[in-house]
Amino acid sequence: MNIAVFVSGRGSNLRAIIESKILAGLVEVVLVISDKSDCGAFKIAEQFNTGTAVVGKKGISFSELTKILDEKKTGLIVLAGFLKLIPAEFVNHFENRIINIHPALLPSYGGKGMYGHHVHEAVFKSGDKISGPTVHFVNSEYDRGAIISQKFVDISKAKSAEEIASLVLQAEHILLPEVVGLFAQNRIKIENGKVKIVSLEERRS
Ligand code: GAR
Repeated sequence: MNIAVFVSGRGSNLRAIIESKILAGLVEVVLVISDKSDCGAFKIAEQFNTGTAVVGKKGISFSELTKILDEKKTGLIVLAGFLKLIPAEFVNHFENRIINIHPALLPSYGGKGMYGHHVHEAVFKSGDKISGPTVHFVNSEYDRGAIISQKFVDISKAKSAEEIASLVLQAEHILLPEVVGLFAQNRIKIENGKVKIVSLEERRS
């Protein structure tokens, strides 16, 4: 399956997808898209020879991008640290084909302004003993689409928001390729607005 990855910064989740052994032969990253013309993730894209595009004020429009992604027969769009809201038209065009990774256990610690270190600072302040990443479908509201999968991370011994961020990021690098793999195998179904992961056998029946 051809996939496109949206990024805004460092790109460690992009790298986790590209280097994932479980995704080898299952998916190909055909385009890396950012709202910034210069970001760490583009260096990774260059290193692995995937195409890149800049969208928004500094680049092409979302409708131009839609055409390009359709031409490339893109089956899945992954938001991996993309921090801008995606226009509703784009979300509707790729309905149930856009997923996002969020660095906390949604529905807690989500919504506008809740990204990156803001999330981990809020979690640290709360005194929560567990956190962890969530992968969910994207709809027109920040962090509100159906939850696909989550990973629990013990943060009871973490002494700072940075320490929580680092523990959660390690779990992100496992969870995101897992979910991309399930999607590429057509094992993620939506029933009554909720996600169900089906086995390979169930998928065939
Ligand atoms: C990740 O921690 C991701 O969960 C977070 O941005 C970081 C990107 O890191 N996304 C959000 O906060 C979205 N609300 P990366 O560029 O190294 O993959």
